Amino acid sequence: MQKSGDEALFAEAAAMRGRAYAPYSGFLVGAALLAKGGRVFLGCNVENAAFSPSNCAERTALFAAVAAGERQFSAIAIAGGKAGEPGSAPCLPCGVCLQALLEFCDPQSFRVLTANGEGGLQAFLLGELLPHGFRL
Ligand code: THU
Repeated sequence: MQKSGDEALFAEAAAMRGRAYAPYSGFLVGAALLAKGGRVFLGCNVENAAFSPSNCAERTALFAAVAAGERQFSAIAIAGGKAGEPGSAPCLPCGVCLQALLEFCDPQSFRVLTANGEGGLQAFLLGELLPHGFRL
């Protein structure tokens, strides 16, 4: 994917941050997941008063995509940060979300994009972030 494509995907994640429901942590996250066919699936974090039912933005996007019939993905962009802050600081998936992504995404080619804290983006391979994920 070209750099401009990365930036467009991140812009979708940043816009999706506006839908985050995070009254307990005050930390808003948006994610944009790119399927290999070109469709983009969006997600935000959705918290709960009982805490453990909360869901991260990345899994919200992944599960929406799988429910829509997609199982092949090339990249995810994540924009996160405290409410009132712009989402331009790095925000990488938690371990649970990395494991969920590993179920469908090639660790050597699937790209994880987030802000670099300096107005740009940084990219990691899924396998860099989760080098020893669980496999049956
Ligand atoms: N969160 C995400 O949605 N994605 C991440 O990459 C990190 C954390 C959410 C979970 C929780 O609602 C809030 O951010 C604070 O941890």
